[in-house]
Amino acid sequence: MNISTKYFYQNYQRYFAQVADDIKEITIKEITELGAYNIQEAYRGLHFHSSQEDLYKINYHSRFINRVLAPLIIFDCHSDKYLYKTARDINWDDFLNESRTFAVFATTTNSNIKHSQYAALRLKDAIVDYFRDKTNSRPSIDTREPDLWVNLYIDNNRATISIDTSGGSLHRRGYRRHGGDAPMNETLAASIIEYSEWDGTKELYDPFCGSGTFLAEAYLYATQTPPSILRQKFGFEKLPDYNPFAWSEIKEAGIKNIKPIPDGLISGSDISTKVVKAANYNCSFIDHNDAITIEQKDIFEIESLNDKIIICNPPYGIRMGKELDLSLFYKNLGDFLKQKCTNSTAFIYFGEREFIKNIGLKPSWKRPLHNGALDGRLVKIELY
Ligand SMILES: C[S@@+](CC[C@H](N)C(=O)[O-])C[C@H]1O[C@@H](n2cnc3c(N)ncnc32)[C@H](O)[C@@H]1O
Repeated sequence: MNISTKYFYQNYQRYFAQVADDIKEITIKEITELGAYNIQEAYRGLHFHSSQEDLYKINYHSRFINRVLAPLIIFDCHSDKYLYKTARDINWDDFLNESRTFAVFATTTNSNIKHSQYAALRLKDAIVDYFRDKTNSRPSIDTREPDLWVNLYIDNNRATISIDTSGGSLHRRGYRRHGGDAPMNETLAASIIEYSEWDGTKELYDPFCGSGTFLAEAYLYATQTPPSILRQKFGFEKLPDYNPFAWSEIKEAGIKNIKPIPDGLISGSDISTKVVKAANYNCSFIDHNDAITIEQKDIFEIESLNDKIIICNPPYGIRMGKELDLSLFYKNLGDFLKQKCTNSTAFIYFGEREFIKNIGLKPSWKRPLHNGALDGRLVKIELY
C-alpha cells in the first residue's frame, strides 16, 4: 500500500463499536445522539458511520461503548502467510515509529487460521518486520498501555485489520484507583443508571456502594461530565488524518457543558470502612466539589431511605465469598425495602439471580445483564 492510498475508514467513514450484547439498544440511541448513522447490529458490537468529529465525540462522550475500531483494510484471508504478507504491505509509518509501543489483539472464528493468539502473533511479526527491514530497529510490544492498539478480526476467512481509536477500553474511566471487593464494570454501571431512567431530580442512593462505581457514573451523567474526561490519550490521535483542532474544540465544548449538582443528590454507604475510603478517593477524581456523600454504614442500621432512587448491587456468592447466609441476607434486605423505603424505587443488580425470590417483593421487571461471566439480572422494585 503506498502512502496516497486511503484506508477503509477514510473511504467509507465506517467504524465498529465494541459493546456488550445486552446494552446495544441503549448504545444505538446514545451514538445516534452523538452523530452516528447507518448503525448495524453485529455480534458484540455495532457498525456505524460518522464524521471524523463525531468519531472523537463518540469516544469522549459514550457511557456504554468499550472501544471504537477504525478498519484499515478488509481482505480475504485463507492462510497465515497471506495475513503476514498483506499486513506487511501496510504503511505502518502512518501510525507508529521505532520508538513507540504497540499491541495486537485478535479474534478468529470459522476460519482456516484457527487460533486468535497465533493470528495476533503473525500480525505483530509483520509490523515488526516492516520496521526492522527499513531501519534495523523496531517498535516494542507493551500489552498494558501501548501507544497503539491494533485489532485483527477474522470471520469466515475474511480479515479486518483495525486501529483502536479509543486507545484501550473506555470502561477504564480513570477514576477507579482503588477497587473494593467486587467492583462493577463502569459501562455496566452506566447502563444500569440508564435503565433506571433516573433523570437527576430525585435523590439517588447506593447502600452497598463498594468502590463507588454507581455513584461516580451517576455523577458523570447528572453533571454531563464526559465519561472519558480523565483519559490522557485516545487512539485516534495516532491516525494519519488526526485533526488536533477538531479534538480540542470537542474537548473544550464537553468541559464547558459540565453543570454542578446540589449536595445530597447522589450519596451512598457501605459497611466496610476500607471501601468507603476507597470510594471517597475514587470519586474525588471527578467530583471536585465534594457533592457526592459517602459514609460507613451497615444497611440494616439506616433509619430510612424514603423518596429515593435506590441503585445497588448487594453482595453475591461467587465473588464475595460464601461465608454469609445470603438467602437470609436477601430476606432481610427485602424487609428493609418494605419497611423503610416508602415511596422509593429500587434497581437491584443480582449477580446470582437465585436470590431474587428471597427478597419477597414482586419486581416490575427483570432485565438480563452480564457482568463479565456472571449472568446477572437487574430488577426494578416499586416501594409504597
Ligand atoms: C458487590 S459489592 C458492590 C460493588 C460496588 N457496586 C462497586 O462497584 O464497587 C457489595 C458491597 O456490599 C457491602 N456490604 C456487605 N454487607 C453489607 C451491609 N450489611 N451493609 C452495607 N454494605 C454491605 C460490601 O462491603 C461490598 O462493598
